[in-house]
Parts: sequence; C-alpha cells; structure tokens
Amino acid sequence: MSQARQHSIQVVAHRGASEDAPEHTLAAYMKAIEDGADALECDVRLTADGHLVCVHDRRVNRTSNGRGAVSALELSDLSALDFGTWKKSPAYATSEESPEYRDPGHTSVLTLERLLELVADAGRPVQLAVETKHPTRWAGQVEARLLETLGRFGLARPAPGESTVRIMSFSARSLHRIARASPQLPTVYLMQYISPRLRDGRLPAGARIAGPGMRIVRSHPGYIARLHRAGHRVHVWTVNEPEDVELCVRLGVEAIITNRPKQVLHQLGRI
Ligand code: G3P
Ligand code: CA
Repeated sequence: MSQARQHSIQVVAHRGASEDAPEHTLAAYMKAIEDGADALECDVRLTADGHLVCVHDRRVNRTSNGRGAVSALELSDLSALDFGTWKKSPAYATSEESPEYRDPGHTSVLTLERLLELVADAGRPVQLAVETKHPTRWAGQVEARLLETLGRFGLARPAPGESTVRIMSFSARSLHRIARASPQLPTVYLMQYISPRLRDGRLPAGARIAGPGMRIVRSHPGYIARLHRAGHRVHVWTVNEPEDVELCVRLGVEAIITNRPKQVLHQLGRI
C-alpha cells in the first residue's frame, strides 16, 4: 500500500461516528471530530415548517422514540423526540454506559444549522458532505433552503477550489439545481449501480465527483479507473471493512465514507 496514497485519502464520518454513537446526532459528530475525521457526512430533509434536519429515513421511527414522516412534523415536534437511546453500539453496550446519549442537548434532532455551527467551532478544518434526500418531491425547495442556510455561513459561493462543503445526491436533478445556482460548490453523484449511460465514466450534467457504493467498487474495480480517466474524483460509501479500505487505497479513490472513522484512520496509519 503506497504511503502517499494512504495519506491523501479523505476520511469522511458517515452520519457522524455512527458505529459508536447514534447517527446524525451531535454526539456522533462530536465523536467524529474527536476521532480525527477529515469530513462529516449528513443527510438532510425538510420538516413540515421548512427547516432542514439531519435524518436519514423518511420516517423517524427507527432512530427516535417518535413516529411519523419528517415532512409531516414541525421542528418543535421533532425537538421533543429522543434520537439517542435507541442506539446500542459495541463501544457502549447500554445507554447507562454512555450518558451523552441521554443528554438531550446531544441527542435531540440535529438541524443543518447546528451542524454547521459545530463544524465552524471544530478548532481545525473539517469539511462537510451534505446529501439531499428525496429532493424531487419538494420541487427545488430542499436545494433553495440548503443554499440559503449555507449562505448564512458564507459557504454558498466559495472561491473556486476552496469549498469546505460539497453536496451529494442520488438525484441528478438535485445536483443540477445546485450546480446552476452555485457552480463553485462541488457536487457528488451517488450511485447504487452503474447505469448504462454512465458506463464510460461520464456523470450527469451538474455532477463533478463520482460517489459509487462499495458494492460497485468490489464488483467493478475497473470502473474506478474509468471515472478517474474521465477526470472525476471518486468518493466511495460506505467503507467499513478493512479489506474494503485496502481496495479503495489500491484503486486511488479520493475519499472514503465510513461509519468507523477512527478504525479507518488507524488502518491508514494516521493515528
Ligand atoms: O454517503 C453516501 C451514502 O450515505 C448514501 O447512502 O443510504 O447511507 O444515505 P445512505
Ligand atoms: Ca447519506
């Protein structure tokens, strides 16, 4: 494994340090920053009253003590829920052993705004990869709200090559909207499979970085070289197993998105 390659790969904490802490909570992102992650990944959804919150699923049932779709709930409804105590991780067998999971300040619903504040206060450069979830049903509102929120932090129109935030999506239309409104923001097109029109390594209009799932990388390692030849950087998700990390390093991908930032950094010899 080349030392140079190992060190140039960005390690991105998927939903925070989500193996050890409840995903998408302040606790998970604080842990990821403490662990040394280069970047944080989060999913964003719009609430009924137009706030962007960091929640993966359409409904809150799996990750909180509440029920219902994020889009049908207001921020005040979501703020009353506990997004922490469902988590049983190998590192913290019970919630009694992990008091931060019971601290409502660390485990209530996380707004994108609060996450941006955390990143701004991290004390070292930390990048943010924001994924728009099911944006098509909102006809541009997710992207508009996202750019408006980034704008408040001075992050919506970065100088070329200087963005600390990138936008990811499985929706090419969502990335196209972002690229039209703010061409300097890097965009990552997430792929679960290789669609026939993208086999040659091209990406849809508006997408700059390729985001293949680990399954694609394992089954079609040659595709990564094709993406690189087409001039795209490659960010792979979700890379948790040591052999997958090794394969990504061998293929020279630019970023690894993982639930286990600490273990990956350790494997890469960075901690
Ligand atoms: O980072 C991309 C990855 O998060 C996409 O899948 O379902 O975990 O949002 P998902
Ligand atoms: Ca995601």
